[in-house]
Amino acid sequence: MIGDIVNIIETKDLEFEYQTLDDDGKVIESNKVLKGINLTIPKGQFVAVLGHNGCGKSTLAKHFNGILVGSKGKVFVNGIDTADDDKIYDVRQNVGMVFQNPDNQLVATIVEEDVAFALENLGVPPKEIRRRVDEALNTVDMYKYREHSPHQLSGGQKQRIAIAGVIAMEPDCIVLDEPTAMLDPKGRKEVMATIKKLNREKGITIVFITHYMEEAAQAERVIVMDKGRVIMDDEPKKIFSRVEELKAVGLDVPQVTELCYELRKEGIDIPQDIITEQDCMEHILKLFGKDVL
Ligand SMILES: Nc1ncnc2c1ncn2[C@@H]1O[C@H](COP(=O)(O)OP(=O)(O)O)[C@@H](O)[C@H]1O
Ligand SMILES: [Mg+2]
Repeated sequence: MIGDIVNIIETKDLEFEYQTLDDDGKVIESNKVLKGINLTIPKGQFVAVLGHNGCGKSTLAKHFNGILVGSKGKVFVNGIDTADDDKIYDVRQNVGMVFQNPDNQLVATIVEEDVAFALENLGVPPKEIRRRVDEALNTVDMYKYREHSPHQLSGGQKQRIAIAGVIAMEPDCIVLDEPTAMLDPKGRKEVMATIKKLNREKGITIVFITHYMEEAAQAERVIVMDKGRVIMDDEPKKIFSRVEELKAVGLDVPQVTELCYELRKEGIDIPQDIITEQDCMEHILKLFGKDVL
């Protein structure tokens, strides 16, 4: 690639199929899950990915750090072809992954050892490990728990430790596959706040898969998938104003957007692109001739 690389992730006509093989290695069944994905994700962006169960979100996410490699097409991470075996460590270092279940991601019996785990395997010098672990734990606001056992922590805290383990690797991009799905509302808020902080303060590119519309509404860009394809790609306000199209692919909109949609159907003059409670309140007050202070 020539010149400055501004796209952290780029996919070109990416296709992927899961194959079932028989004992001789012959393909007896194949299921095409990604059907030509073309995406570019610039450095520093906060992108949410939405889509009904089974549409291929997790499969796509696994292509972003080379866990899976396309059956056709290409994926580039910082300009590196993820199919290039010699560069797989660079790809993995550039793009970290966080999954749904925090219990499956924590390996050590002490929080700080868990965060240090991957660094130790890479042979990073002990002093540098100490610095990175402390910084990562501070970033996710878990430093004071550094000597605790992960088992004593709440789901949200465990997920923040998993995130700390990833940021200790100092990646440019983090892909989070439904990291809030198993958490209670408090844990979800904590993890959301952490993700936003990583993006705003550290400039880390975020690819955030979620089925919570209120969470997706907080991203800069929303990608909607359906049956292995990207069907919408725009800023949240534009995406969520397409209420009927979203419902047609089994998705909802944020509650305030739904409320405004229903009010519009009743003939009330309120915009279609409201995605925050604040915005909703301002418009409702306006209908009553009042301004928000
Ligand atoms: N390891 C696998 N082997 C075979 N099929 C799979 C595998 N993982 C996922 N699939 C299938 O691929 C499709 C997409 O799955 P996935 O990427 O997990 O979707 P999502 O994350 O959007 O729910 C589904 O039909 C699923 O059953
Ligand atoms: Mg999934």
